[in-house]
Amino acid sequence: MKIFIDTANLDEIKEIASWGILDGVTTNPTLLSREVERTGKKPEAILKKICSMVEGPVTAEVTSKEAKGIVSEGKKLKRIADNICIKVPMCKEGLIAIRELRNEDIMTNTTLVFSANQALLVAKAGTNFVSPFIGRMDDVGNEGMGIVDQIVTIFDNYCIETEVVVASVRHPMHIVEAALIGADVCTVPYNVILKMLNHPLTDVGIERFLKDWSKIK
Ligand code: E4P
Repeated sequence: MKIFIDTANLDEIKEIASWGILDGVTTNPTLLSREVERTGKKPEAILKKICSMVEGPVTAEVTSKEAKGIVSEGKKLKRIADNICIKVPMCKEGLIAIRELRNEDIMTNTTLVFSANQALLVAKAGTNFVSPFIGRMDDVGNEGMGIVDQIVTIFDNYCIETEVVVASVRHPMHIVEAALIGADVCTVPYNVILKMLNHPLTDVGIERFLKDWSKIK
């Protein structure tokens, strides 16, 4: 399973990219505006910098609500770098825009997906990635991971090439569950990636080995 980081924070991306485990980056208007406020840089400059830090796809989200606007915004964003992937919100106009962007060979990631039917529609429109939002479903009392399971099964049944990106991840078990289901990608916030590293028995083990070794030094 590929691991993307779900942030626009340049420091966080730099650190995780240095581990050699990062396959891509997802941003959204909330994350990008946070980084604009933190650094005073322009959104395009931040996206350009991110694209230079990772080889894989970097998603940049459009804000237009109509197909025409989505397509022209997507084409403009695409000029930032080759690895830009246009994030399009799930809606009828988005569906039309996805097909047009596909025809122009521009990668898309469909965001704000909350059902298997939505995923099926955007896959048929030709989106490269579909992003079910797990945490937000859990927040309202639904079982988010159940939708991922349905989408992965449907895509397997019909050999659909669209990659399933598990998004809105809140804790490390979301990543394990995504991998067990067979999702293609999990996009993970920085603080949750850090949590993936840790286990108390690892810390105890290292401390004991070093203590025992120091006895003979
Ligand atoms: C995914 O691409 C989104 O940026 C993200 O996962 C949204 O997650 P949130 O529910 O934590 O805002």
